[in-house]
Amino acid sequence: MQKAEIKGKWALVTGASRGIGRQVSLGLAEYGCNIVLHSRETVGTDTLAAELTAKGVQVLQVAAELSDEAQVDAMLASVLASTPGIDIVYNNAAIMTPYRSDWKSVPAEDFRKSFEVNVTALVRICHSLIPGMVKRKWGRIINVTSGIQDQPELIAYSISKAAVDKFVTDTASHLKGDGVLINLLDPGWLRTDLGGPNAPGSVESVLPGALVPALINDGTTGTLFRAQDYVGQTL
Ligand SMILES: NC(=O)c1ccc[n+]([C@@H]2O[C@H](COP(=O)([O-])OP(=O)(O)OC[C@H]3O[C@@H](n4cnc5c(N)ncnc54)[C@H](OP(=O)(O)O)[C@@H]3O)[C@@H](O)[C@H]2O)c1
Repeated sequence: MQKAEIKGKWALVTGASRGIGRQVSLGLAEYGCNIVLHSRETVGTDTLAAELTAKGVQVLQVAAELSDEAQVDAMLASVLASTPGIDIVYNNAAIMTPYRSDWKSVPAEDFRKSFEVNVTALVRICHSLIPGMVKRKWGRIINVTSGIQDQPELIAYSISKAAVDKFVTDTASHLKGDGVLINLLDPGWLRTDLGGPNAPGSVESVLPGALVPALINDGTTGTLFRAQDYVGQTL
């Protein structure tokens, strides 16, 4: 794979405090990428920030509840004021609504909540960061989706991920030739707080595959990358 040089670039990783976001942040730091770590409270990324700083990269910590538009906007304003601009964004943070055994009775609240966090905030973050990327003629947007299927018990979550998929393919059509690649990442079913203890994969198995859409240099955009396709590979 012909890799882009991401040393010294700035990445924003949402939901960096644990699970997949934490792994992605560790992986990006190995490539010398500076990182803005997001979670709901900055204390959630304190340990990771120290770990990454020890690797010699610059780290900022930000907090925002993604269902709160004002907090999302304040976070974006602070990120843009404290960095030369975000080159890479992993929209990774998400919530999974409760498993509804009675799948024909899903409260409207499930849809509202999952769309606010998983879709509306993600789109707002992309829309805010795309102009800077276009100006600098370089950007990598990685929106984390899911391979979930045939589980109407989790329909509010899975529909929110389908909305993310649609957002990515439609937005990619308007960024062609700008140097800004927007893609989807399916991490696989992994043992995290969200994935649960019965998932087949370890959270570590998301690397190195999760880094591929940040490192690609061949213009691929509007595409789905599956992290599990790269298990055991060297990029
Ligand atoms: N694990 C899987 O099997 C799997 C499979 C397919 C797709 N995915 C996707 O992978 C991504 C990461 O999942 P994960 O398993 O790593 O999840 P996780 O371990 O539950 O971590 C979720 C992260 O998102 C943040 N977050 C949660 N709710 C938030 C909110 N309302 N506002 C702001 N931040 C919030 C959390 O921050 P706090 O520390 O503040 O709570 C945490 O850092 C998600 O997009 C998920 O849909 C996961």
